[in-house]
Amino acid sequence: MAKLSVIVLALLFVVVSRVSSEEPYFVYPEIYNDPERDAFLFDKFPDGFKWCAATSSYQIEGGWNADGKGVNIWDTFSHEPGNVQNDDNGDVACDSYNKWKEDVKLLEDMKVMNYRFSISWARILPDGTRGSENEAGVDYYNNLINDLVAAGIEPYVTLYHWDLPQALVDSYDGWMGEEIVDDFGDYARFCYEKFGDRVKYWITLNEPYIIAQLGYEYGSHAPGVSGNGDKTYIVSHNLIKSHAKAWHIYNDEFRSTQNGLIGITLNSDWFEPENRDEQADLDASERMMQFMLGWYAHPIFLGDYPEVMKNRIANLSAHQGLNESRLPEFTAEEIEYIKDTSDFFGLNHYTSLLVNDNVDHEPDPPSWDKDHGVNRFPGENWPRAESEWLYSVPWGIRRLLVWIKEEYGDPSVYVTENGFSTADIDDLNDQGRIDYYRSYINEVLKATIVDNVNVQAYTAWSLMDNFEWAEGYTERFGIHYVDFNDDERPRSQKESAKEYARIVANNGFEKGVSAASTQRFGLAVFICCVLFHLRRFVN
Ligand code: NOJ
Repeated sequence: MAKLSVIVLALLFVVVSRVSSEEPYFVYPEIYNDPERDAFLFDKFPDGFKWCAATSSYQIEGGWNADGKGVNIWDTFSHEPGNVQNDDNGDVACDSYNKWKEDVKLLEDMKVMNYRFSISWARILPDGTRGSENEAGVDYYNNLINDLVAAGIEPYVTLYHWDLPQALVDSYDGWMGEEIVDDFGDYARFCYEKFGDRVKYWITLNEPYIIAQLGYEYGSHAPGVSGNGDKTYIVSHNLIKSHAKAWHIYNDEFRSTQNGLIGITLNSDWFEPENRDEQADLDASERMMQFMLGWYAHPIFLGDYPEVMKNRIANLSAHQGLNESRLPEFTAEEIEYIKDTSDFFGLNHYTSLLVNDNVDHEPDPPSWDKDHGVNRFPGENWPRAESEWLYSVPWGIRRLLVWIKEEYGDPSVYVTENGFSTADIDDLNDQGRIDYYRSYINEVLKATIVDNVNVQAYTAWSLMDNFEWAEGYTERFGIHYVDFNDDERPRSQKESAKEYARIVANNGFEKGVSAASTQRFGLAVFICCVLFHLRRFVN
């Protein structure tokens, strides 16, 4: 009898442990463990979902003065001591100018469908304008595109990822000058002519917010100009008009024969109200979203700048004694010309912050930060990457995607960047990055199949470690490791690249039991075996 009861007990234990294995699984059980919000979803993305990896020209190519390439603002900026950590620069970077075939191989090995890279404007038009065409530069991109197409990988090409030809700064102050709108249009047309027979996805600008804010307000990126809530708005105005111009040129002159899509990539954090019961915090969140994302998305997807920006900047400008707002105005004609000029919503997202109302600031001297009047800060214990601004907050991407769906009328969203940095150490076992990717992609999955956000693509930043702008090589974002001390710049697969390839192969996350519950099950079986063997002592 006792023997039987031990066996029954053992069986009961197995069953109970199996049932309890249905408990939710969390990637960050210590920090994000709300069953409603954080439970992992084992499911797949819709058929046809696109998996992609990304880089950009200045960050990987090197060959900074090879074969007739012109100088760009990042060559100038990084060659000036003190601008970049360790005075690093992109002179050689990953040497992709010579090693693009290896890059294509990395993509093939992971079986991703798309590769997002950018064209270096000064490599193909050294002084930035038609007439200065550099055949060797055009050949480089033709070779890369041909190899990608041959490997069955679709190119997603960004026209501008921050490396402006220096000549355009010398002649009219770059993005500060209105002339840029026509020059960008001409450059875009040149790219459609040369590559548009094979490139079907174009991204006009990468992260106009960073171009304007870090380049012309904080001064930490090329061209290193500081401002007081003034130049950043002028530059953004010209960026938005340039984007619209490039879209119209494609739409009017190339779409009917090339049949591609063209859009913009905007970056945004998610701004979570510190206390959802406080109206002031809810307002601060909404305001911050409009000041970061709405600044560009509102003119392009809805028409004109967000009201909250127009009102606040006009009021604070008046308070300064200015006759007109620091935020330039679009004419009615421009509003129409700019509206509806993105065939998809390209989104770069990395992190979230908590926000509340900043009530006690001095409006002078003016700045974009004072214009929005929001405090931003991380939550307690949020896991941080090597980059000081990057906290892993997976549920933030889901909230952001739902916000975009509701705000901009359910556009098709391409996540064009998402990723995690680690320190400059030689370690292929990057568990922190794996946790980040698994949890963020899982939240994109929930947004897609639970919230019905129309997400069509996901992109890992980055295919490989590269030049991280003002941080030089001190922060590594790659899913492949690059040895920058070796002239050959060898690339090696990190564990995160293997994990990403598994997610791509499964088109999501295989239904089944989680690692933790499998462990619990194993333990239960082990205990049963012990009990079974001990039964004779019981008898
Ligand atoms: C966004 C930028 O597009 C990319 O160039 C950069 O390396 C990553 N963020 C990481 O900071």
